[in-house]
Amino acid sequence: MAEHSNKLIHAFGALAELGQEITNKNNFQETIRTSLHLISGALGIMRGSVARYSRFGHELNMLAVRGLGDDFPLSLSLCSEDERQFLTNGLNPIEIAHAKALPFFQVYDASFERRNLQLFLPLVVRDEIVGALFLGEKATGEAYTSYEKEIICAMGQHIGVAISQRNLMAEIERHAEQNRKMFDDMRSTYHDTVKAFAAAIDCKDKYTEGHSVRVGRFSEIIASELGWGGDEVEGAAVAGYLHDVGKLTVERKIINAPYRINAKESAELNKHPSVGFEILQPIHHPFTDVPLAAKYHHERLDGRGYPDGLFDREIPFIAKIVNLADSFDAMTTDRPYKARRPAKDVIDDLQRNAGKQFAPELVTSFLGGMLKELSGENRDKRFRRLLGREYMEAEGIAEKLRYTLNEMAPTTPMTYVAAAASVGEFQIH
Ligand SMILES: [Fe+2]
Ligand SMILES: [Fe+2]
Repeated sequence: MAEHSNKLIHAFGALAELGQEITNKNNFQETIRTSLHLISGALGIMRGSVARYSRFGHELNMLAVRGLGDDFPLSLSLCSEDERQFLTNGLNPIEIAHAKALPFFQVYDASFERRNLQLFLPLVVRDEIVGALFLGEKATGEAYTSYEKEIICAMGQHIGVAISQRNLMAEIERHAEQNRKMFDDMRSTYHDTVKAFAAAIDCKDKYTEGHSVRVGRFSEIIASELGWGGDEVEGAAVAGYLHDVGKLTVERKIINAPYRINAKESAELNKHPSVGFEILQPIHHPFTDVPLAAKYHHERLDGRGYPDGLFDREIPFIAKIVNLADSFDAMTTDRPYKARRPAKDVIDDLQRNAGKQFAPELVTSFLGGMLKELSGENRDKRFRRLLGREYMEAEGIAEKLRYTLNEMAPTTPMTYVAAAASVGEFQIH
């Protein structure tokens, strides 16, 4: 009786340990090896193995083997009759000596007999075979008692769940991988489409060749200088690429007019933000609000922009980015009625219009990015590639940038109040 209780305590200890082992997210192989070790130790079993069932290969592949010798087959095939029988049998130990009628035991009879394998436990979890447990004779040489078989079933259930979880994880990982691939494909299709559109827009405007692409790149620079994440930076680039998509519906002669266009033509051209919005609105854009960038890229902080004359906070941030990129490109490229302006002039313009047309924090980020490139702090040549080496390396630009950025350094709320009071905008009591 005492011996029986000792065994019971031992077996339950092993069972608890096994449960813990399985819930710990250890290495799967290690978990299975430990499980076999625990079962053998708890019941005094000389040899055995744990196998995982592959339903594609219809075979049991050994995960852990103990005392069965090197020549024990590492993979055992099941036929459909075996599978059916094991499923019907469920998670109950089968005495190998009494199961000779099944093809599986006939095929591997010699192998099992040579190693004195006595019990076979199909690991059935949620009506599915996930593996099997092979157990040899006990050290005492006695037959397995029904109580021991129950312990084996309980332990087998733990192992079965561990294998089943592992299978599930593998399945999830496989699906995730498939989704990732699909997403990558869609992403590159999306980008190709965006670039094709940008090229189509730029084709229409012979004087500003490559404008959309450059605005895309400048928007990308601003977003990255703001410290945005990869997806958002990509979104800003897309917003830049597509900002003038509405121009596709504007007559070519207006876009290409080699003179300052008249009021009627200008009204026609000024519809392009709203048209662009209409074109882009039905499309789902993954990273940022591209349609809003198209609609509001001609708005100004001081409310003097179009189409809606929005003020500062009413303008979507992405539209402010594209506005700066757009204006910068307009100033730094030759137009039919105006030659490109020198960099120092452009920097002055951005500073002067910060707070009126442009968001000051965007101007400082953008100019900061330019300075980083010129001073060698940032090794890529984004500005040089877009504006030309000669243009960017003209005398004194770096000093100009340093000076401007210094002047534009954010003021504290106190200095803001003092400055505002001194021009009599409001009184301090
Ligand atoms: Fe525009
Ligand atoms: Fe534009």
